[in-house]
Amino acid sequence: MIEETVEYIKSKIGNFKPQIGIILGSGLGELADEYCETALNYSDIEGFEASTISGHKGRLVFANINGKNVVMMQGRYHFYEGHSIQKVVFPIKVMKKLGVETVILTNAAGGVNPAFNPSDLMIITDHINFMGVNPLIGENDDNMGLRFPDMSEVYTPEYVELVKKVGDSIGVDLQEGVYMALTGPSYETPAEVKMARVLGADAVGMSTAPEAIVAAWAGMKVIGISCICNSAAGVSTVGLSHEDVIHAANVAKNRFKKLVTEVISKL
Ligand code: HPA
Repeated sequence: MIEETVEYIKSKIGNFKPQIGIILGSGLGELADEYCETALNYSDIEGFEASTISGHKGRLVFANINGKNVVMMQGRYHFYEGHSIQKVVFPIKVMKKLGVETVILTNAAGGVNPAFNPSDLMIITDHINFMGVNPLIGENDDNMGLRFPDMSEVYTPEYVELVKKVGDSIGVDLQEGVYMALTGPSYETPAEVKMARVLGADAVGMSTAPEAIVAAWAGMKVIGISCICNSAAGVSTVGLSHEDVIHAANVAKNRFKKLVTEVISKL
């Protein structure tokens, strides 16, 4: 299936070779509207499926940003949509086959660290996969990666430093921390958020860890950026809604775009 998908995409993009792959999280898709040279709807790509979430468009967008060839997912697949975990990570494998060396994974997340505020950006230093499933379960594709891959440095430390340096230089403040992935789609209870904190999480969300695991397995460099869209349940007394999450992402989006485009120029 991967080969067919890759052949189809190549037939549409000609000799464009993406070096960087970006997954744009909830409310952060605008980058792909601004820089769009070729766009393929998921519904037209064999092996992809239409996206079901508001705030997610469902397009694969190709563009040159600051001199680098980039493929962007405007909308990702979530486990909570009912997709298999293999479906969730399929686009990462496709990116690898297209020649992508570095992936930038972005998401909307809830802040568990009480020092975080809505619309803060957080560079992910590590994750806790609390989804109860691992995307590498099943037969291993030895051509892509090892059966028992090392996960000591999923989020490329050199790039964590680079993103922090870029943030400093352009005046975009960054938090940093550990992202815990849960399945969703219900937001966490206050007790679950307390647990996340005790276990070492700074933010909670419903994505990213599966894609990061597969990218690291396949030997790709990984950058993770969370937009802290709300204080997670119990951290503040305000209730949570998807609308508030999208609103906070909107507040952060210009800083986010500035950061990501500047980081791209340095990769
Ligand atoms: N929890 C999980 N996922 C999220 C949250 C949250 O509080 N906010 C945005 N995505």
